[in-house]
Amino acid sequence: TQVFQMLQTILFMNVSSAEVSGVVLLGDVPIYAVDPANWSIHFHWPWSRQAASEGDAEKIKSHLKIYLRNMIQYVHEVAQEEQLDYPLVVQIRAGCVLYPNRTSWGFMDIGEGGRDLIAFEVERQHWEPRKPSTLAELVSKSFNSKKAITAMLEHLLSNSCQRHIFTLRRYGKTALERQELPVATVFARTPRPDQILLVCHVTGFYPRPVSVAWLRDGQEVPPGPSLNTTAILPNADLTYQLRSILAVAPRDGHSYACRVRHRSLGTRSLLIPWG
Ligand SMILES: *[C@@H]1O[C@H](CO)[C@@H](O)[C@H](O)[C@H]1NC(C)=O
Ligand SMILES: *[C@@H]1O[C@H](CO)[C@@H](O)[C@H](O)[C@H]1NC(C)=O
Ligand SMILES: *[C@@H]1O[C@H](CO)[C@@H](O)[C@H](O)[C@H]1NC(C)=O
Repeated sequence: TQVFQMLQTILFMNVSSAEVSGVVLLGDVPIYAVDPANWSIHFHWPWSRQAASEGDAEKIKSHLKIYLRNMIQYVHEVAQEEQLDYPLVVQIRAGCVLYPNRTSWGFMDIGEGGRDLIAFEVERQHWEPRKPSTLAELVSKSFNSKKAITAMLEHLLSNSCQRHIFTLRRYGKTALERQELPVATVFARTPRPDQILLVCHVTGFYPRPVSVAWLRDGQEVPPGPSLNTTAILPNADLTYQLRSILAVAPRDGHSYACRVRHRSLGTRSLLIPWG
């Protein structure tokens, strides 16, 4: 399963200003970004420029500024009619999920002030309010009256989006299939005289899925109150890290080791003994 999505934020400070920012991601890999200064597209990779010149991406690229200008004008109009208070923050999330069976599911959501406002139901080509409010009603009604646009969105979010994922995979194979080896270290902390916390810190791996376990005398320690594993956190270089902490009693006569499994290791696993 792979998600291709555009995340866009427009900040309206007052009646005459709008700051645009946006990124386009395939999974966790940045592909495109919108330059806030001049709304031109920044390509994160040489191959993302190539991919953007194929299919409907080219059309989207050439219409981006018109779309942004219309969107901004529309928000200011609605703000005036509905007497909304500035600053306003509009967030847009659009893209598709590609499943292993090669079917895809498109989505588009618009939020305002950090909350869901309206969502597009792709198959029905219909905008629905996501909260009971006159603003959500008004905006979805106004978007639904533009049949040419809802039909175009349906096409973009289903066919074009899926095809673009295949194009990106073709041009960006090396970067998208990149693998980085995990580096693991084991150390101990002693918060209390009767307890030792064994910490296994694993970092620098890519992609994200990883398996970290503690072995006691060679047997995997089952989940329980003595075992804590943190969430997987991002590093700045698009690798990940996490730690797994096991509480043990001092001199309990057992041997301990941290075991890491990751795609980059193939069928091998890292085994770091403590002590
Ligand atoms: C947009 O601005 C960036 C710097 O913020 C610059 O590098 C880029 O060349 C500009 N693009 C155009 C089309 O003017
Ligand atoms: C494809 O997989 C998705 C997610 O597992 C599922 O919802 C969908 O029904 C499947 N489609 C087909 C045609 O098998
Ligand atoms: C694991 O986390 C729980 C809840 O935060 C805490 O009560 C427990 O002491 C922790 N165990 C270890 C081994 O750190």
